[in-house]
Amino acid sequence: MKKQKLSFELTVFDGLFELSEDDHALMSKAVAARKNAYAPYSNFQVGAAVLLENGQVVIGSNQENASYPSGLCAERVAIFQAGALYPSVVVKTVAITATSVNRVVDTPAAPCGNCRQAMLEYEVKQKEPVRLLIMGETGKVIQCNAISDILPLGFDSSYL
Ligand code: THU
Repeated sequence: MKKQKLSFELTVFDGLFELSEDDHALMSKAVAARKNAYAPYSNFQVGAAVLLENGQVVIGSNQENASYPSGLCAERVAIFQAGALYPSVVVKTVAITATSVNRVVDTPAAPCGNCRQAMLEYEVKQKEPVRLLIMGETGKVIQCNAISDILPLGFDSSYL
C-alpha cells in the first residue's frame, strides 16, 4: 500500500493589468462574449474565448433553458463550436469570465465538472495541454496550465 499526493501549480495574477497583451486581449473577448449570455434563470452570465493554434478565437456564453438541464455552460458552447469549426486545430487557451446581476463577482469563476470533462476530451485528443485563464468580472485572474490538473483521475478514452 502506498499513499500518493497529487499537486499542481496555478499562477495567480492580481488583475487583468498583470496579463500579457495577448492574454489580456483574449480575456477581453471573453468579457465581450459574456454580454450574449442567455441567463434569465440564474442571472449569472459567463463568457468564454477559445484561442486556437491557428490564431482564431472562438467565443461562447452560457445558454439557459426553461428546462434547466437543457441549457449549456459557456465553456462547452465555445469549445464545442471550436471543435465543430476547426476539428483538427489545437486548442491553446480558454479564457473564462463571469458576472452576475445579483452581486459583483470578484473571484475567478472556476469551470464546473461537466465543462472540465468536456475540455479534457480535447486535451487528450490533441496530446497537448489546454491552458485556462479564469476571472470573475473584476479582481484576480487564475491561470491553470492544463485541464488534467483541475480534473485529476479524469475519465478519458484510454479506459474504453
Ligand atoms: N455556468 C457556466 O457557464 N460555466 C460554468 O462552468 C459554471 C456555470 C453557467 C451555467 C448556468 O447558466 C449559470 O452559469 C449558473 O449555473
